[in-house]
Amino acid sequence: HPPLRVAVLGCGVVGTEVVRRLVTDGDELAARVGARLELVGIGVRDADVERDPVVDRALLTTDATSLVEKADVVVEVMGGIEPARTLLLHAVAHGAGVVTANKALLAQDGPTLYAAADAAGVDLYYEAAVAGAIPIVRPVREQLAGDTVQRVLGIVNGTTNYVLDTMTTQGLGLDEVVAEAQRLGYAEADPTADVEGYDAAAKAAILASLAFHTRVGLDDVDRTGITGLSADDVAWAARTGHVLKLLAVAERATGQDGTAGVLVRVQPVLVTADHPLASVRGAFNAVFVEAEAAGELMFYGRGAGGAPTSSAVLGDLVQVARHRVLGGKGPVESSYAALPVLPAGDA
Ligand code: HSE
Repeated sequence: HPPLRVAVLGCGVVGTEVVRRLVTDGDELAARVGARLELVGIGVRDADVERDPVVDRALLTTDATSLVEKADVVVEVMGGIEPARTLLLHAVAHGAGVVTANKALLAQDGPTLYAAADAAGVDLYYEAAVAGAIPIVRPVREQLAGDTVQRVLGIVNGTTNYVLDTMTTQGLGLDEVVAEAQRLGYAEADPTADVEGYDAAAKAAILASLAFHTRVGLDDVDRTGITGLSADDVAWAARTGHVLKLLAVAERATGQDGTAGVLVRVQPVLVTADHPLASVRGAFNAVFVEAEAAGELMFYGRGAGGAPTSSAVLGDLVQVARHRVLGGKGPVESSYAALPVLPAGDA
């Protein structure tokens, strides 16, 4: 099979690791896919800033629009709504398969992307958008499609889990620990998205949409962050046999008027010390799923950072590339809209 042309959009912490893997594991990936993954360009905002030596400067371009036009697969790890949204729609319109890690975009405007990918008959994969390295999107989207999910509980933001954990173990205040999370590369560019729960809310919306075969947007998620929590709060939780966790919760519920629907929220929760989620330390993530037939499932691993997130991106890239070589296509979500999303506090 001729080489597949891969365009990477964004060259930050995650993008650099994706490029590294494409460069260093090229032969292995080619064997797994049945075609070489040829990196044809890296779309960046500024081609002149200093970068990791693994990034071939000749591949950098600020003209991402032209870049996506010549790609078979576009990997978007730039984040943010625009220009990511326009570029991905452009890529899809040109027949490229898409891999994205962009939780904010999917939570805000996923249905537009799903419809565009569906209409164009191309793949749209986004494992890295939720909980970094943890395989959770694919299991919920594909493997659990034959079951009935009742509830999803997730620690889906590494920064806040790290912050709450470190506040507990070291008795430190919020701000000093957030600075350390930024230094370690867990936090978003603007850590407000982490500590105010927006990042977790985006992931909750994506997971809830998949788990309940419906459409949950960012605005449907009732959200409280961790900025109101003090060192005293976390210490009190520990003294009473609990651990404070910022949880994404999505569950089937019945509204006050008897409507069956889904409730989605992000909030600090006192988890009893013997619950599996209580043992999730540091920047790790975990998603606990309760399904009718499967029972309880727990997915655990690294939810942030360049290398772990690149694992999810590369896994998607291999899958989309395999479809290009062997035929086949991933699932579509564009027709889902079954369960209504209940307003907060309605159940
Ligand atoms: N800022 C996010 C986190 C990165 O801390 O989990 C992964 O989305």
